[in-house]
Amino acid sequence: LNPMLLDQLGRPLRDLRISVTDRCNLRCTYCMPAEIFGPDYAFLPRSELLSFEEIERLARAFVALGVQKLRLTGGEPTLRRGLPELIAQLSRLDGVQDIALTTNGLLLPRLATDLKAAGLNRVTISIDSLDPEVFGRMNGLGTHPQKVLDGIDAALQVGLGVKINTVVQRGVNEDGLRGLWLALREKAVVRFIEFMDVGNHNGWNLDGVVPSREVLARLSADGTGAEFQALNPHYPGEVAARHRGADGHEIGLISSVSAPFCGDCTRARLSAVGVLYTCLFAGAGTDLRAPLRAGTDDAALRDLIAGVWAARHDRYSEERGEVTRGHKIEMSHIGG
Ligand code: GTP
Ligand code: 5AD
Ligand code: SF4
Ligand code: SF4
Repeated sequence: LNPMLLDQLGRPLRDLRISVTDRCNLRCTYCMPAEIFGPDYAFLPRSELLSFEEIERLARAFVALGVQKLRLTGGEPTLRRGLPELIAQLSRLDGVQDIALTTNGLLLPRLATDLKAAGLNRVTISIDSLDPEVFGRMNGLGTHPQKVLDGIDAALQVGLGVKINTVVQRGVNEDGLRGLWLALREKAVVRFIEFMDVGNHNGWNLDGVVPSREVLARLSADGTGAEFQALNPHYPGEVAARHRGADGHEIGLISSVSAPFCGDCTRARLSAVGVLYTCLFAGAGTDLRAPLRAGTDDAALRDLIAGVWAARHDRYSEERGEVTRGHKIEMSHIGG
């Protein structure tokens, strides 16, 4: 056990985000644009994916090194067959305090009951617009927002904690932000995310980013943002900056472009094929699957992971500036 494992910038390892599939049933233009992720796109074959047993073994190693929070991501994690079984396995690990899932919500009406019963605590559901035309364009497939709203209701009904993620893109969905918030704020905290330069295909540039301070202004009744009061984070290094509106409802601002939060980034990411990345924008990672399949024991696995973390000095969002950098890991391989 090494509770004092710190990286080169003094940051502990606290969260592990585990991608369980690179597939998705949407094609959001900022994540998996349909022109690239088309019918001929070669998704990972099943044999390449970590098995549930392999994920559990790695998760146990990470927990021994300080991880307290697990988040399952994708692609779309609910497309992974048997997901509730994996959650049940992970929830039995000693030291795991929180298991969450980032999802587009489409399959929650079918899965919410089983996910909750398996030990899932929370879901974060993405929806960018309530306007069918705008949402259909953003999700790349014309999928209607009501399908996501049904997923939100299904999650609430079984007692899962629910947060909403809304990616904001200049000239695309900024006009509908206040309407979306008014419609959803009784149900859950809505977090507004600045459009980021993840992956290599989303055509990011600074012009597409609506800075959070402008989002705040757009959300308020008088157009100034003055009604919102900043709240303290729930935990050190919380990604979303919490604010409370005049009527008491909370929102979150995820300002990875205008106000990067690398300084207390405690997140490691594991891809569906078992590569460990120490940053959302990493160009390369460390393969953990090969040693796992070669029979490496638990102590050696922990040492390998601890060595990677101890060497970590990533702070991409703080260094980015106005231009994106070349080859990065795809969002669909690490799920944000
Ligand atoms: P909780 O605070 O546990 O509720 O979750 P979260 O906000 O960390 O997770 P979620 O998957 O909902 O992420 C929200 C948004 O923040 C997504 O767009 C992520 O890509 C982005 N995000 C999460 N972690 C990081 C990070 O380490 N760096 C950057 N730049 N963005 C991140
Ligand atoms: N910029 C900001 N957020 C993004 N997400 C996916 N791609 C991007 C991007 N380019 C969001 C998803 C989901 C979360 C995990 O990341 O909408 O809510
Ligand atoms: Fe799928 Fe989420 Fe990416 Fe949209 S953002 S394409 S729902 S993984
Ligand atoms: Fe962490 Fe990298 Fe995001 Fe910075 S850019 S907060 S180091 S994942």
